[in-house]
Amino acid sequence: MTMPTTQCPWRMQVHHIQQETPDVWTLSLFCHDHYSYQAGQYALVSIRNSADTLRAYTISSTPGVSPFITLTIRRIDEGVGSQWLTGEVKRGDYIWLSDAQGDFICEDKTTDRFLLLAAGCGVTPIMSMRRWLAKNRPQADVQVIYNVRSPKDVIFAEEWKNYPVTLVAEVTNQPGFIEGRLTREILAAVPDIASRTVMTCGPAPYMDAVEENVKALGVTQFFKEKFFTPVAEAATSGLKFTTLTPAREFYSPVGTTLLEALESNKVPVNAACRAGVCGCCKTRVVSGEYTVNSTMTLTEREIAEGYVLACSCHPQGDLVLA
Ligand code: FES
Repeated sequence: MTMPTTQCPWRMQVHHIQQETPDVWTLSLFCHDHYSYQAGQYALVSIRNSADTLRAYTISSTPGVSPFITLTIRRIDEGVGSQWLTGEVKRGDYIWLSDAQGDFICEDKTTDRFLLLAAGCGVTPIMSMRRWLAKNRPQADVQVIYNVRSPKDVIFAEEWKNYPVTLVAEVTNQPGFIEGRLTREILAAVPDIASRTVMTCGPAPYMDAVEENVKALGVTQFFKEKFFTPVAEAATSGLKFTTLTPAREFYSPVGTTLLEALESNKVPVNAACRAGVCGCCKTRVVSGEYTVNSTMTLTEREIAEGYVLACSCHPQGDLVLA
């Protein structure tokens, strides 16, 4: 079986698949070589073992603790990656992963006081780090608050029984859950919150609300995972974007990346790493001013032709796109 792309050189075999919640599955993968990663990192997966469809998934296992490399994936109706991985891939199949990537990790934090905040499937790096801290910093004071829609949506429900965790569910009549959403009052009840390193992962609006609330409570050490799709409203003024095929005009506020402008206007674009690494979001700019902070996967010729990585492209004025 040949490597589909040099970006995903790690061949892994599916050892078993476990359903976690009604719409989330964990794939346990066996790698014949040593796959190096840190708790909290993600990998790109070559979808259908093809070169041009890559998707980013957090590695939910923990190095030095978990017997397998695991990916924990929510099935999304229109998600080509999640539909394949949770619906078609089966035990014994091979899939291809990139090197582990990302800097949403706890290993480099020197503190021993953490507050880990997760919502929905954003719990995957949080659980990975929680296990790592239990094994490598058993003295650490680690508080976890995990938000879900309802009790049946708690991912790793059995394993959470091993760790102190505050569960918050939007809809619940079960004991053991706070009903509603994460509030500043719930956060304020965390002992000495201002002195903690706070790490959060979940949908972008959730992470934005967490950031605002914990900073208002005096937190200075704050980290959030960055590869989740923002759900910004389409703008009606600001920078103008024109696509030639199909012909279309749309707007985005000054300061957004080209990827954010495309996504908030529902213009089809692939994105996986959101960090200028995977090359998924390659887009051609025909005219206009912009700056870039990564051209990592582009050739000299592509750059000369106006190709950019949309996630790393910062429009400085109106743009025309191919
Ligand atoms: S999403 Fe990976 S390079 Fe842009």
